[in-house]
Amino acid sequence: MNLIDRLNKTAAVIREYYSKTPEVGIVLGSGLGNFKAHMQVECEIPYEDIPHFPVSTVEGHSGTLIFGTMGGKTVVCMAGRFHFYEGYSPTDVAFPVRVLKWLGIKTLLLSNAAGGMHEDFKVGDLMIIRDHISLFQQNPLVGPNENQLGPRFPDMSEPYSKEIIARAKAIADAKGIAVHEGVYAGVTGPTFETRAEYKMLHILGADAVGMSTVQEVIVARHMGLPVFAISVITDLGIREELNVITHQEVLEAAAAAEPKMTAILMGLIEQL
Ligand code: HPA
Repeated sequence: MNLIDRLNKTAAVIREYYSKTPEVGIVLGSGLGNFKAHMQVECEIPYEDIPHFPVSTVEGHSGTLIFGTMGGKTVVCMAGRFHFYEGYSPTDVAFPVRVLKWLGIKTLLLSNAAGGMHEDFKVGDLMIIRDHISLFQQNPLVGPNENQLGPRFPDMSEPYSKEIIARAKAIADAKGIAVHEGVYAGVTGPTFETRAEYKMLHILGADAVGMSTVQEVIVARHMGLPVFAISVITDLGIREELNVITHQEVLEAAAAAEPKMTAILMGLIEQL
């Protein structure tokens, strides 16, 4: 089945569960799953029940698509995303974002947990992503281009909407939340970086590094969807002392910073 047929089929099945058109799509990163508590939830669909969504490689839940309202808008939230390191192809990783667009979203908001490399960053800080460096070997748009979705050679001069970034900064300011702005390097994982790799990524111009987001942004921009993304800095890659990073530490730091991030996303959703 070609991509357009798969998108039509997937969207049709989802619309049987939920018929309203979402205006905003939100993808939640590791440890940032509490967002739902701020939504008026109207419908939840486990990924397992959605045709053509990647099949989970891990035991238990792979995630849930949550529909509802927030700040007067109809929103759809992906609680759980797919990562390249789990064994999915870059195209599969990004398929759900194409589905959200097919369902009608006009804006995509993404969050993630990332390792910080900028000397001013501390654990628990937020970084609005201004630009990215993709270090994934394969771009999710490799393969036949679907002209119905977007052009063969999409522009990437402004992957992250300057207008939404400006709004997010104003919202953060008004709420007294400190935010950085910087460049996110997308890597495959699942290893965290070596000391030399963190240093190299910083020299290359990245302020934070993580294992997600970039492929989703590429397919969203291919389809002309405005994107905003924000990282929670969950660990510091460049430190003098012994620098062991654990998944647990990442999850805990993300959960602790979640209220600040949620406040910014909620403010944005109200204003979009
Ligand atoms: N490196 C890569 N991915 C990450 C990190 C990191 O230090 N922290 C959270 N996700």
